[in-house]
Amino acid sequence: LLLNVLELDTPALLIDLDVMESNIRRMADYFNTKKAKLRPHVKTHKTPIIAQKQLDAGAIGITCAKLGEAEVMNQWRIEGILLANEIVGSLKISRLVSLAKYSRIIVAVDRKENASDISKAAEQKGLAIDVVVEIDVGLNRCGVLPDEACELVGAIRSMSGLRFRGLMGYEGHCVFISNRDERRRMTEESLSKLMFAKDIVEKSGQNVEIVSAGGTGTYDITGEYPGVTEIQAGSYVLMDGRYKALNLGFDCALSLLTTVMSKRGNRIVVDAGTKTCSTEKGLPTVLDVPGATVLKLNEEHGIIELPQDSHISVGDKMQLIPMHGDTTINIHDHYYGIRKGELETVWRIEARGKST
Ligand SMILES: Cc1ncc(COP(=O)(O)O)c(C=O)c1O
Repeated sequence: LLLNVLELDTPALLIDLDVMESNIRRMADYFNTKKAKLRPHVKTHKTPIIAQKQLDAGAIGITCAKLGEAEVMNQWRIEGILLANEIVGSLKISRLVSLAKYSRIIVAVDRKENASDISKAAEQKGLAIDVVVEIDVGLNRCGVLPDEACELVGAIRSMSGLRFRGLMGYEGHCVFISNRDERRRMTEESLSKLMFAKDIVEKSGQNVEIVSAGGTGTYDITGEYPGVTEIQAGSYVLMDGRYKALNLGFDCALSLLTTVMSKRGNRIVVDAGTKTCSTEKGLPTVLDVPGATVLKLNEEHGIIELPQDSHISVGDKMQLIPMHGDTTINIHDHYYGIRKGELETVWRIEARGKST
């Protein structure tokens, strides 16, 4: 059965498969020739089959934000998971240890007490869990300050339930800086902090095997910075309006198919609102309708102003490009994979909503 995209019920989250595959290839080609490797973040797409495509293209593993995401990926036999987040509390730590029995997972730590809790839980199961120490390189989120790295690494070395693998430092405050020179300057300043931490840890006699950083906006700055061994970029696969504005060479594979349900003059209403398209980073744009502007989204209604000469009428389909892919994907159950206007596949977004 060949189904044209316009026959799908709406709202429906679409992936243009040609564009997604080209984004995956483009990023893989870049890292083919670089010392640093790609361990893409899957918090964006949350879907094992896409992670598998990234691995098939040469990624060394995947990065997850949440334990729940890592559990799903492990169930689908996706290997090489970096859990780039602090896992705190006995309930989560016991899940982490269970997962580590099935998958050689690497987890971030930024506190001695937390490291010790993980170590003790792992020891009880006869395991040693791989850890990276998170360094705050300026994002001002999690992580120790660069000059505190040595102390924590020293403590980790004395814990028999942990295996120190290296450092991570995500420069999330740089990835959306629109001016490329400024983005490079800020990124390099952040990475110099990460390298300062690496140097002092190495001088203390500890080998630093992994140095992980980088997002989509900085993949080719961080990817060439001496000493960085792997990059965590994730949004490049599907992209969104916010990243598209940076002109990084990746195209939007993600869109939300909607139907026009009402029209008055040149103002139309489509059947998608904030319950199917996130707006915390801005309103979506309209694909292939020059001059159409999204004015606002209610829960289940999107209000769009059309140019005066527009022939769009009730019942027509329109595609919106969300400003933020991650939070839009997280409120959908399925992707509809489209190739040249026809439905090729439907994928469950297996790890959507996995926030614990
Ligand atoms: C820890 C971490 N690494 C990497 C990323 C990169 O993601 P993106 O490709 O969206 O820039 C993020 C995004 O928020 C992140 O939180």
